[in-house]
Amino acid sequence: MTGRVDLGVWRTPLEPAPRLAERIGLGAGDLWVKRDDWLGFGGGGNKVRKLELLCAAAIEQGATTLVTSGAAQSNYARLTAAAARRLGLGVVLVLVPEGEGAGAGAGAGAGMRTGNLALDGLFGAEIRWAEWARLDEVAAAVVEELRARGERPALLPYGGSNATGARGYLACAGELAEQAPDARHVVVAVGSGGSMAGLVAGLGAERVLGVNAGAVPDAAVRVAAMVSELAEASGSSRPVGHAELRLCDEQIGGGYEQLTDSARQAMREAGRHEGLILDPVYTGKAMAGLVAAVETGEIGRGQRTVFVHTGGLPGLFGHPFASELAAGAGAGSG
Ligand SMILES: Cc1ncc(COP(=O)(O)O)c(C=O)c1O
Repeated sequence: MTGRVDLGVWRTPLEPAPRLAERIGLGAGDLWVKRDDWLGFGGGGNKVRKLELLCAAAIEQGATTLVTSGAAQSNYARLTAAAARRLGLGVVLVLVPEGEGAGAGAGAGAGMRTGNLALDGLFGAEIRWAEWARLDEVAAAVVEELRARGERPALLPYGGSNATGARGYLACAGELAEQAPDARHVVVAVGSGGSMAGLVAGLGAERVLGVNAGAVPDAAVRVAAMVSELAEASGSSRPVGHAELRLCDEQIGGGYEQLTDSARQAMREAGRHEGLILDPVYTGKAMAGLVAAVETGEIGRGQRTVFVHTGGLPGLFGHPFASELAAGAGAGSG
């Protein structure tokens, strides 16, 4: 088993959200937020936990440069760039230009490079552009090119999600088991699935509600495969079939990066009632999924519910919703 580099992950706090809880129909003491957005390294978010493990594996293999791929506003790509720099490594990001492919029309628009892209620039990442359909192919070509230059590239998985990265969320599950042993529901955004997989491996499939943001077409299969791999490696949890997972697809709406009305509403409620910042691509949809689960009765009053805040703040500033919010600032007290 690989080790872990130190990117500053400490046990993150678990905070109550009593005003938001009452607003969405729960009891004041029912809703808690696991502040993984406070994993502050490189602009913060859930991928820091994964990168501590993925980078350790890359360094053990002698890597000199990290290579990964994703959307233009990928939080994971941004954090890979930050991690590379912290560890003295080179970094190449293969990204899909905004306004193309899965998130077509959702980005800030071609030419308006901000949000995560600004931080990628700050970290001095080398960026290559590719369309969604050719992302893996271009990343593989970059690896070959770097090898030919005498470097030792490590290609990290999309979203940092493989069993190694998911161990970061097995650790988060361990923290939650101590902080909220009675939690009945743990709600988390799902992109490439590693965060949900680690939580399921640590807490059991029945307690974890994943809300799919629509980043990959086969999220349930991916999550189940990682849970099974983690179970095999640890021997302490059991494999799950993808049908056993509580994975909600109802918040995807028009697709990955496309903001929905329910996510828009959830973001406003979290901001106005708790001063809590959610993002339009992941945590806004995850909170919308939590609200919908309260409405359908899947989450009931009196059941302790933990919302895992996975970060994503830089992405908010790279999304057109930021302008919509700014245009409405001061417009109402709601
Ligand atoms: C802010 C944020 N939340 C949640 C996720 C989803 O995590 P995972 O890819 O482990 O499913 C991501 C993935 O990029 C993310 O950036």
